[in-house]
Amino acid sequence: MTGKLYIGTNTKMFQTGTEAETYIRKMDDLIDDIRDRLEFFFIPSFTSLERSVRAVGDRIRIGAQNMAWEDRGQFTGEVSPLMLEEIGVRFVLIGHSERRHVFGETDGMEAAKVRLAADHGFTVLLCVGETAEQKDAGRSIQAVREQLEKAAGVLGPEEARERLWIGYEPVWAIGTSGVPASASYAEDMHGAIKGVLRQMFDGDGAEIPVLYGGSVNASNAPEIIARDGIDGLFIGRSAWDPDRFNGIIRSVLPVFESRASKQL
Ligand code: PGA
Repeated sequence: MTGKLYIGTNTKMFQTGTEAETYIRKMDDLIDDIRDRLEFFFIPSFTSLERSVRAVGDRIRIGAQNMAWEDRGQFTGEVSPLMLEEIGVRFVLIGHSERRHVFGETDGMEAAKVRLAADHGFTVLLCVGETAEQKDAGRSIQAVREQLEKAAGVLGPEEARERLWIGYEPVWAIGTSGVPASASYAEDMHGAIKGVLRQMFDGDGAEIPVLYGGSVNASNAPEIIARDGIDGLFIGRSAWDPDRFNGIIRSVLPVFESRASKQL
């Protein structure tokens, strides 16, 4: 962890290339005076990646929403890390809930992608989160533990510390039909995830940032970020208007920094 606030958005299948470029240019201007205090990232569609990288260079970390688990092969419709590297993308989202639950990706697939991404020196934002059924059955921690052990267990401690970020996104909290987790529930789950990461990677595991996502908005963001173990926010639809997103960032940054300073 860098001591900075981890914050960014995945635009899912919502912005065209033109829209993504306009958006990220505006965000680039809006966060200019605070960018050194942020680990800010933007994860647009594949077709928007190259123009986003051109628009903001290395001032903003640009990531892909998905990646194949092989460098090359007979995988129609997939995108290889070689193709991402070629256009300057070295950050990738793996295992987002929509990939798992809409497209049927398994922990085994996520593991292969995580391994290959690390082989290419990419930073990986690996998403985990329990379903409503798992939560109701009291198996939330067990579910995320399994996801972490299977998908991130392919990494050694050092590469996990250097390359792995975790997005904790309860499936029931994501999207228009989602109900945001309470701040205390998110805090408990982050504590459990951090415990699993420490078991998996010893002291290196304590350095892996864990971001919360799932219906984060202007009203719940400050109370969520005030909680221990929440190193950042991974926001969907409330981040797609630049001014609104900038407002959220500015409301949570002092809360995050005052919490971080107390922990020193
Ligand atoms: P949401 O999306 O903020 O719109 O719920 C979060 C996500 O899917 O990462």
